[in-house]
Order: sequence, then structure tokens, then C-alpha cells
Amino acid sequence: MINYEEPGLWLLATPSSAYVVRLGPDGAPRCAHWGPRLTPDQARALPPGREELPGEGGERFGVAGLQVRYGDAVRGVEWRHLGHEIDPGGDGAAGHLVIRMADRHYPLEIDLHYRVRPGSDAIDRWTTLRNTGDEPITILRCDSAAWTVPQREDYRLTHVTGGWGAEFQVRRTALATAETVLTSRRGHSGHHANPWVMLDAGDATEDHGEVWSAALAWSGSWRITVERDHDGRAGWSGGFGHEGVTWRLGPGEALETPAFSGVYSAEGFGGISHRWHDHVRRHVLPEPRRVRPVVFNSWEATEFDISQAQQMELAELAAGIGVELFVMDDGWFGGRTGETAGLGDWWPNPERFPDGLTPLVEHVKRLGMAFGLWVEPESVNPDSELYRTHPEWVLRQPNRHPTEVRNQLLLDFSRDDVADWAYDRLDELVTGDDIAFLKWDMNRPFTEAGDEVWVPYIRNVYAVIDRLRAAHPHLMIEGCASGGGRADLGMIARTDQIWTSDDTDAAQRIAIQHGYGQIYPACTMGAWVTDSPNAITGGRTPLAFRFHVAMAGALGIGGDLRRWGPEDLEQAKHLVARYKEIRPVVHGGRMDRLADWAVQYTLDADVVVLSWRPTMLVRATAPLRLRGLDPDGRYRDEDTGEICHGALLMSHGLPRPWPFEGVSELKRFTRVG
Ligand code: DGJ
Repeated sequence: MINYEEPGLWLLATPSSAYVVRLGPDGAPRCAHWGPRLTPDQARALPPGREELPGEGGERFGVAGLQVRYGDAVRGVEWRHLGHEIDPGGDGAAGHLVIRMADRHYPLEIDLHYRVRPGSDAIDRWTTLRNTGDEPITILRCDSAAWTVPQREDYRLTHVTGGWGAEFQVRRTALATAETVLTSRRGHSGHHANPWVMLDAGDATEDHGEVWSAALAWSGSWRITVERDHDGRAGWSGGFGHEGVTWRLGPGEALETPAFSGVYSAEGFGGISHRWHDHVRRHVLPEPRRVRPVVFNSWEATEFDISQAQQMELAELAAGIGVELFVMDDGWFGGRTGETAGLGDWWPNPERFPDGLTPLVEHVKRLGMAFGLWVEPESVNPDSELYRTHPEWVLRQPNRHPTEVRNQLLLDFSRDDVADWAYDRLDELVTGDDIAFLKWDMNRPFTEAGDEVWVPYIRNVYAVIDRLRAAHPHLMIEGCASGGGRADLGMIARTDQIWTSDDTDAAQRIAIQHGYGQIYPACTMGAWVTDSPNAITGGRTPLAFRFHVAMAGALGIGGDLRRWGPEDLEQAKHLVARYKEIRPVVHGGRMDRLADWAVQYTLDADVVVLSWRPTMLVRATAPLRLRGLDPDGRYRDEDTGEICHGALLMSHGLPRPWPFEGVSELKRFTRVG
């Protein structure tokens, strides 16, 4: 809900938070409140605080989220309020506010956008710049928004870090009195960081305390500068781009940033995750209600060594255990028999598939599964027909050596002709063989990219995916960048799920999934059961353990089923069937992290608890206490039939797990009566 109470004061309310913007005496919009809900009377009593998008000049010495240079080399903005617009958004529970500003002297208009969606606790914020003059303006930085948290004695920063095969590792550290920069300069959102941030006063727990957070809907380079100043105030400014990348805003041109959405919770880190998951499921995902099928993916089973007969055999085994979608990964096209050739040639390898893909697709369909393919449309191997025909399509700079990563170069997706080519090839592929699913991979960062490339490249990736989805409404898309290198709200807004990490070792996956789930919901989290010992780590875990970990997301099978014995296949069939029973609860329910080794999902009367102990216990652990149940309710254990009291499950919990290695458990309860 957006209230306009008096000139220069705006109150935005979500179901459990409020945000107040006030014009300061200098004309700049300032944050007066971000926290619990307020009445208009209370909002009116608040003084303006820090700027909503601080620029340069005047007595500004902190992070400048807006940095511009006019033709005469003057910098900064002196704000002038032009007015505002409110689109009430229909049902009174939401809306879109635009505060219109301009520079007092130079021909630059700035719109600050605020949007609240029905039932959501997220406030989406972004910025539009317009050059209304006759000369270009140089933009050195244009953040989507700056977020200010109320002053507290202390602050703690939560974010994720990692690398390939180790994405989303949660780090919680005291916030230094300094500027802390979380960033990606790689052209994708990154394995080493993820474009979100949380602050608390150092006292929040999983279910108590105030937490402030924001996540950026952008899949390219980004930067969030978290600032704790010498007056003890804290906040952050963030948006696309990284330092050194500039834009030229020509006369009449506009620059719109991606949304940088903020969520406040007084119910700890768990409360923050609940709000993000609800928001993503209701307002970000393109097809939130679509059932995420149980996938088989061929990558770990066969890598590049693909044949039609072998894929057919895998499909038969996959169908036998209940898989719903068979995906053939890398190695099916052009001359792609290894990492060095073929990328860009999106037709079936004529030696491996002499009659095209149709025989395999038909076989898969006859087995009752849908068929999907791996693609990496943004990349090209120098040894490919595409590169030989269009060497000029590659991202490179004059007088600079083109860097190859994984023997591949990037296509310059900022060029519309390249994006059109990609769309046409993918459209043809999907149409020709009735492809139900594309895994869209991206295996290398940007290297030789000019200023003009970074943003239009990502916009064209988005445009190609959006066009494909519009032309093929039933097509599902999985976002991937060597695992979780491009998992962000920008990608989630146009895909059905994300490939979380190439590390499929279930024991290590627990921490990766823990970090992924801080913001992004389980229905988007691709999770495969693979072989033991694990292909990458060599780690050994029981089959049930691997399943129980992967069942916490969108389950897939990625092992070489030809090497699984009859007992493994029988057990897998049983576990896939169990997963299908709990899938609506895992994907649609509230997720509570009960411990770093257990998670609970609750949807109406249904409760699912998954717990895993990868290593031998060295200390006694407390019982697993469930959350969010009806204390007066009675819950039936679906395996034993035992009736348990909600109050006791929450205060006394489940019996302690066995202290052995590789122990895992799936428990289901249903509220009765
Ligand atoms: C990286 C992905 O993360 C893997 O799952 C697989 O698709 C390979 N690329 C194929 O090259």
C-alpha cells in the first residue's frame, strides 16, 4: 500500500513492514524509516534520514550510488522535485510509486521507483535516468537504490561467498567501520558471491530479531557497497556494473536499472527467508505453479561420450525409477566430442545421431517422459562452423589478445544480430523436436568487453529467453553457469529452476543448499542424486542420504544408472515415489532451517522434515524441535501412525538422530482432526 500523506512524504506498507521516504530540506529524497509497520501519524513524526540515492558534491563524503559527468566536466546532482505518480496496483494492497526528480541546472531527470506487490513483503526499487538535453552525459555509476538501516549499537553482515563447486557458503561477520564491497566483475553474477546482502544488529537468530536484506535482479556484473560510517550509521548502495565501467547517455536516451528489492523481518533470518521465498514464488518466477518434474541429466553419467543407444538405455532405466523428464547434456551437437570443438553448432552430431534427435526423443516420449537438451548459446569454440563463418561475432577488443576460457570465446550478445541468430537457432531446435526443457549454460566470464557491452549483453540474453518462453509457453528453462554462477533474481524471473552447483557430493551439498535457500526457494534449486564415490570429490554416501539431501530441492538424477545394481534401482524407485508425495510441500510450503543439518517444510496440514548427518557426531545434539505448528494440533506420523502433539513436537522435538555417519531421515506428519 502506498500512502501519500502530505507533500514530500510517502509511506509504503507491506504486510509486516513499512518504508517511509521524505524530501529533505535540500530537495533530495531521504529514507525516514525501514522497519515495522507504522501509521501515517507515526510516519509524519519522522525526520528525513540518509539519501535514497546519494550522489556527489555538497557535503557528501560517503558512497555515491549516482555518479555523473556533464559535458563541461561538472559532476554530481542538485536535486529538484518534479512531482510523483502512484499507480495503485488494483487491489489497494500494492502499488507503484515514482518520485520524479531533476537536476536543478543540467538536463538530467531521475525517477526513483518503489513497487509493492500484493501480499509481498518485498519493496522493489529501481532508478531511471533521462538525458533531456542535446549533449551526452557520462554515467560512472547508477545504482538501483541505496538502503539505510536504522541506527544500532552494532551491525553484522551476512552474505555468501565461494567458488566453482562451492557456491553459496554463508558468511556472517561483524561489519567493519569502512566500505565493504561485494561485487562481480565477471559479466555474470558469480560463483564467488551472490547479489544479495543482509544486515542485523548482531543479535538476530534463526527465528528472532530484526534483519534487513536486499537482492538485485541482475545476471551480469554488479556491485553492492555496504557502508558503516564514523557516525555509526549503516546501509548499502547497489546496482549493475562494476567500478570502471561507464555509460554514455545520449540526448533523449534513458537508462533504467534492474530492481534491487528489500525485505525487512523482525523474525530473524528464518523470517527473512520465508518472505523472500513467498515473494519469489508469487511475483518473480514466470510459472510458479508449474510442477518441477523429476529430471534425469546425462552429464555425470556420460560427459562428452554420448551415443544414441547409450542415451536410450539410460532413458529406459530413468523411466523405470519414475523420472519425468530426460535431459541430454553437453556433447550431442556439431563436432562436440570434447571441450575443444563444436560450441555454436546447434545441430545434432551427424555421427552420433545419423537420423537426428527424433529417434531418441520418440523413445523418451514412449517411455512416458518429456525430453530436454543442454545448450550454451552465448559461447563458441574457435573450432566450430559458427566461428569460421562469423569470427566477427566474438566479444573482443582491438589490439588485445582474445582470452579463451575452457577453450571457448563469448559471442557478443550485445549485438542484436547475434541475439537474433541465437533466438532463431533455439526456436528451430525447440520446434523441430518438440523440446520441453532447455538447460541454458554459460561456462566462462567476460574478458575483453568494452563499456558498451556489459549491460546490453545481459538485456539481450533476457530478451532471447523471454522471446523463447513467449513462443513456447510450455518450454521449461534451467539457468546454469558452470553450476550456480548465474543464480539471481534476474535469471529466476525467466527460468523455472537453477542448476545450483557442479558439486553433487551430498555431504558438501548441504552447505551449498543452506546458502542458496537463504533467498531463493526450494522449487528453483536443482539437486541431483549422483554416484558414490562422487565423480568430483570421491566422497562416499549411502543412496538414501543422497536422495534425502536432493529431495530438499527440485529432485534430479545425475548418476550413471547403468552402474546402479537392481537393489539401488529399486530403492531409487521407492525414494522417487516418496519425493513425489512430498514435492508440493517442499516446493510450495514454508521452509524452516531447524539446524544446519535439518530442514522442515510446512504447507497447511502437511509437514515434512529432512535431516542429514554426513559425519560421525562428536558431540551430543539437542532434539530436533519443529517450528510453526499448531500447538493445540495433533499430528500423525505418516510412517508409524503415531499421533504427536504439536506443542510437544515444538518444545521437546523429535528423538535425537543416531550418532553415526551418513545417517539421514525423511519424516512426514499430517495434522489430524
Ligand atoms: C557446466 C554445468 O554446470 C554442468 O552441469 C554441465 O552441463 C557442463 N557444464 C557441460 O559442459
